[in-house]
Amino acid sequence: MPQREHAIHISDLVKVYNSGGTDEVRALDDFSLTVERGHITGLLGPNGAGKSTLLKILTTLLPKTSGSAHIMGFDVEKQALDVRRSICLVLQQNAVEQYLTVEDNFETFGRFHGLSKSERRERGDRVIHAFGLEAERRQKAIDLSGGYKRRVQVAKVFMIDAPVIFLDEATTGMDPINKRATIDAVAEEARRGRTILLTTHLLDEAEELCDSIVFIDKGRKILEGDLFTIKALARNIVDVSVTYETLTPDIRDAVERIPARKREVQHSTVLLTIDSATASPHAVLGTLLDLGPTLAFEVRGATLEDVFMQVLGKEKP
Ligand SMILES: Nc1ncnc2c1ncn2[C@@H]1O[C@H](COP(=O)(O)OP(=O)(O)O)[C@@H](O)[C@H]1O
Ligand SMILES: [Mg+2]
Repeated sequence: MPQREHAIHISDLVKVYNSGGTDEVRALDDFSLTVERGHITGLLGPNGAGKSTLLKILTTLLPKTSGSAHIMGFDVEKQALDVRRSICLVLQQNAVEQYLTVEDNFETFGRFHGLSKSERRERGDRVIHAFGLEAERRQKAIDLSGGYKRRVQVAKVFMIDAPVIFLDEATTGMDPINKRATIDAVAEEARRGRTILLTTHLLDEAEELCDSIVFIDKGRKILEGDLFTIKALARNIVDVSVTYETLTPDIRDAVERIPARKREVQHSTVLLTIDSATASPHAVLGTLLDLGPTLAFEVRGATLEDVFMQVLGKEKP
């Protein structure tokens, strides 16, 4: 049963596109999930996993096939209006008013959502500051780079005091600096008590931002937990990397002979993924360091990406 204290409650949700046709797609397959208030949950999965479909159903944009979904206790279909008042979302597609300045984009959005003039000014200033858009505030959106447009779009939803926020691939297309600013601002908003469900295929982003992680593949939830628990699933996985002064053919050959789950060579850096249950990372590091003069080395534990690949049973693309 959905409870008031749950920000999001999804039970056995199914979505079938083109039902009965030869091109029928089961985009969501008995998907269930509960999100507590004030948590940031990351929905991770490969392209086509069903992430956008889920977000569209939760935000009342798409009818479900069966099952149920509640936002702040409201049924997404029977109480769609109440749900819409409780949420804000950033879709995968861009939506900024190209011919308005950045601040007028915020002004228009605030007006659309019924904010008073003083609220619009105050919150507009707040998001401009939080998302680092001071220098761009009087520029027209059309003159901004794609990454900045996206930042304006993400910032916009934080004008509204909606308790639940959905972000679909919010940082896609952003350069690293843009991404950094956006991630920091989103994290700050979460600390103000908002519930955020975000989708991403960027595991490092999820790792940094999320309290809990849900892996989705082919419309099914395949794993769920807090970051610590999820990473513990791959606790035996260790990455050992060494950067050589010069990566000679001899070193390359020797590296090929070291047993590893995965082996990557980029420029003069060698990265081996080791299962510490079967091989000692320190012994592997010692072997690598003995192969020739080095500039740097690193040994680190599993990343979300390692867990993801392990769970999906895939190698890195
Ligand atoms: N409007 C649609 N009509 C038919 N199939 C769709 C439609 N939208 C998405 N799909 C299919 O549903 C599956 C899930 O898509 P989507 O929810 O966009 O995944 P994700 O956001 O994780 O990449 C994919 O197989 C996709 O091709
Ligand atoms: Mg998508």
